[in-house]
Amino acid sequence: MILVTGGAGFIGSNFVLDWLAAGHEPIVNLDKLTYAGNRANLAGLQGDARHVFVQGDIGDRALVARLLAEHQPRAVLNFAAESHVDRSIHGAGEFIATNIVGTFQLLEAVRAHWGTLPVERQADFRFLHVSTDEVYGSLAPDAPAFTEQHGYEPNSPYSASKAASDHLVRAWHHTHGLPVLTTNCSNNYGPYHFPEKLIPLMIVNALAGKPLPVYGDGQQVRDWLYVGDHCSAIRRVLAAGRPGETYNVGGWNEKPNLEIVHTVCRLLDELRPRADGRPYATQITYVQDRPGHDRRYAIDARKIERELGWRPAETFDTGIRKTVQWYLDHPDWVAQVQSGAYRDWVATQYGAAAGA
Ligand code: NAD
Ligand code: DAU
Repeated sequence: MILVTGGAGFIGSNFVLDWLAAGHEPIVNLDKLTYAGNRANLAGLQGDARHVFVQGDIGDRALVARLLAEHQPRAVLNFAAESHVDRSIHGAGEFIATNIVGTFQLLEAVRAHWGTLPVERQADFRFLHVSTDEVYGSLAPDAPAFTEQHGYEPNSPYSASKAASDHLVRAWHHTHGLPVLTTNCSNNYGPYHFPEKLIPLMIVNALAGKPLPVYGDGQQVRDWLYVGDHCSAIRRVLAAGRPGETYNVGGWNEKPNLEIVHTVCRLLDELRPRADGRPYATQITYVQDRPGHDRRYAIDARKIERELGWRPAETFDTGIRKTVQWYLDHPDWVAQVQSGAYRDWVATQYGAAAGA
């Protein structure tokens, strides 16, 4: 048994589905079901006794303690977080509550449980913390990619809260001996990605005939990784990572945002041409830049390759084609996540000018 937190979100649900499809152990999935958590992502597991879903908060120490005592997992994987930079700019409270205080409460519950285990089980136990490359800050255009030695320079409330959680995890290892692993991954994309983030927002807006809002000059660079590759990296780190170590995970796919948006448009032109025959790129609209917008992220993923033999399986071309096709094949999922609360967010972030 393993315990996963945030397993109804984008990456967490992909992880749970892939893990169980590969025939690994059962999963207890603890998720608060915030706006980003969606049980429909896990619909394929209905009636599967290997998946135990519990709605709850990682900050609820008594609940986590009960789940640990009852299910005796060999590992806890922490995906749960508030994850959207723009939301953290509008209000950071939930980011502090979940990403910092929640991680602290989770660590304390896990530490208390771990302390009761026999020595052999203590040694085999793992706490794997899923984090981000954003903790390293922004890179100059010609700077080398982030290695695990890069200093922490978070710039947004979101990345600052994730950086704080990484520091807590590190401290619980150094001070208390908890066998922790941390992964710092670049931008993911793929199925079940909530359409507040760049790629799924562009796909759903394009299909709805809405503007495609590009922040600033669109030349900000991100390093894109297909979500299934992130999940395989996490499985590999869990299996063979050294306790106390951090592993950068990335796709060797640095691309400016505008190029991403044009790629999505071209794929849609091919797979679902507009009724009027005009290109989707005509919907591109430049909007006000994100405050404090990080210019460039890039991951040096040589450590995980050298030490654990992991490399991504997808190229950007194969991954983005699969992703666009997945959104075309799942209009019901898209309609379901675009609820009233989603529309409120789009109106708050983009106003009448774009997207709403
Ligand atoms: P997401 O926003 O799609 O999902 C987060 C999930 O956590 C949701 O199911 C939500 O209901 C749950 N959750 C939120 N607060 C909770 C709480 N207090 N208790 C229990 N559950 C709670 O996020 P995601 O994109 O899947 O990201 C997952 C993790 O990976 C996050 O820690 C994020 O920082 C990290 N990460 C994301 C990316 C990316 O590109 N999306 C890249 C690197 C790292
Ligand atoms: O790098 C890893 C991080 O990637 C994760 O830790 C975060 O959880 C995840 O949300 C993501 O953060 P970004 O801010 O990079 O992702 P987002 O999809 O919000 O934006 C990607 C880029 O696209 C960024 O430069 C901002 C830009 N953008 C985004 C949106 C939503 C636009 O130009 N227009 C938009 O409407």
